[in-house]
Amino acid sequence: MVQLAINVDHVATLRQARGIDEPDPVLAAGICELAGAVGIVAHLREDRRHMQDRDVQLLRQTVKTKLNLEMGAAEEIIQIALNLKPDMVTLVPEKREELTTEGGLNVADQKEHLTSTISRMSSAGIPVSLFIDPDSDQVQASKEVGATFVEIHTGRYSDAANKVEQNREFDLIAKAVDEAHEAGLRINAGHGLNYVNTARIASLEKIEELSIGHAVMARAIFVGLDQAVREILALCK
Ligand code: PXP
Repeated sequence: MVQLAINVDHVATLRQARGIDEPDPVLAAGICELAGAVGIVAHLREDRRHMQDRDVQLLRQTVKTKLNLEMGAAEEIIQIALNLKPDMVTLVPEKREELTTEGGLNVADQKEHLTSTISRMSSAGIPVSLFIDPDSDQVQASKEVGATFVEIHTGRYSDAANKVEQNREFDLIAKAVDEAHEAGLRINAGHGLNYVNTARIASLEKIEELSIGHAVMARAIFVGLDQAVREILALCK
């Protein structure tokens, strides 16, 4: 069965909208774990629009399952990760103007920088995942730069305007998953997954873990976080 990691960034988004100290993403992470999530994801962006340094420090101390620090490969954040020692990091492209992480990393275009970043993380005992589009070249490049995991971007599948488009995107994801598996990479997936489209992705057996944030937090407003996590977890089974 695919495992579930919950991204708690949007609890911090709500807090930052008021500039006060609640709701606290650290408390949210504990509730997600109690409801059955086996990992917590937090994206410390360079612009600190949601997660703050204090959040990731406290998450490191309190997360009992696995802390996955999502981050751009910028020097300031690399230093924070090396000191923090999360259980793993997921490298993503980061643009200041974007609403959320838009495309996957262009690994093939920055092999040197990513090889060196991955080797620094490896020396600190931190496995690295690369967030990539479902594309053969990106899978092969991820293997070449020494990644342990790839996280396959499910955003185009999630945003598909109709069934034909969604089927096409699903096939690309399934192919990328097979290629990554053949290359000896471990595989996660995520972005835009929700209560309608998750089960199909969860049926791809070589995927170890799904990373889901926005849909769970959106539902949590109405049904509570514990129930929202349990409902998405049921869809992973
Ligand atoms: N995986 C990565 C790499 C992401 O950047 C995000 C968004 O922060 C997610 C998964 C979760 O996406 P969503 O919030 O749409 O579930």
